[in-house]
Amino acid sequence: MIPSEAPNRAVGEGRCGDRLWLYATYHCNLACVYCLTESHPRIADRRALTPETMLRSVREAKALGFGSVGITGGEVFMLPSFAELLTQISKLLPTVALTNGTLFDDRLLARLAPLAHGRAALQISLDSDIPSRNDELRGPQNFAKVLDAIPRLLERGIPVRIATTVEWQTEEELERLCRLHRSLGIPDEHHVVRSVVKRGRAAVQQLGVELGPHDVLPELTLTAEGAFLHPFAPTVRHGRTDVDLLVSRRLVPLEIPLRKFLGVVHEQPVGDDVVRSIR
Ligand SMILES: C[S@@+](CC[C@H](N)C(=O)[O-])C[C@H]1O[C@@H](n2cnc3c(N)ncnc32)[C@H](O)[C@@H]1O
Ligand code: SF4
Repeated sequence: MIPSEAPNRAVGEGRCGDRLWLYATYHCNLACVYCLTESHPRIADRRALTPETMLRSVREAKALGFGSVGITGGEVFMLPSFAELLTQISKLLPTVALTNGTLFDDRLLARLAPLAHGRAALQISLDSDIPSRNDELRGPQNFAKVLDAIPRLLERGIPVRIATTVEWQTEEELERLCRLHRSLGIPDEHHVVRSVVKRGRAAVQQLGVELGPHDVLPELTLTAEGAFLHPFAPTVRHGRTDVDLLVSRRLVPLEIPLRKFLGVVHEQPVGDDVVRSIR
């Protein structure tokens, strides 16, 4: 048994966050040049978590004192029942689902209606205010699809955040991108900006910055292959999952990977000298 105060104490000491991350699938309709997970439409091993495992782990996370959930991939909306699963999970804990924003047709928007004014936010990737520069990183027509989706989600009361991944964008370009998201009604505090991390496809393509050992706040991250130290850990290179930041092969009961995770974070330094530059 984990002492009930142990996770909260580790969070209070700044050793880790109180969010549980789920890698729902590694399958994706896009193939971005820097993708951490080498996701693409014909990926051989989709590494999908079952809806049952995701729901069970979130129920257990809530009981263990976690404060929120992040769901990523791959593209979460490639899973046939993701809209309904997100609704269920966000009733348990506040949830952010990371998405490329390209699959929001009328049918999917209707299925997302229960999320209106609720505890789920969609974090959509957008890398430039210039369509061609965004699409060079993320794929043809990506900018147009994202710009079409955002107002349609917002007018339905679904909270939207923006994530920007930086490789060669200029300061002026990023400032213009901020003006764009503000004009869409998304405030600065709902805009995440981070460098391309040299893992996954980015490493193969020689893009991005090396990940330092303490650049990312540890947050327990579940994938179909095991539990990892943070959401930039379970990356894929040349088709194989990197296991340098694996903490447990077991996922549930959540107490098992959580105990291993807390053991690892207690070995790590904390304090003002530890700067988390990637989020
Ligand atoms: C892996 S994606 C999964 C969610 C969704 N498919 C998307 O692209 O938004 C999650 C976030 O990680 C970003 N990302 C992908 N590869 C990255 C890398 N090598 N370094 C840093 N961020 C990366 C994406 O741009 C996206 O904002
Ligand atoms: S970054 Fe997201 S949208 Fe792009 S290939 Fe990877 S999972 Fe798909």
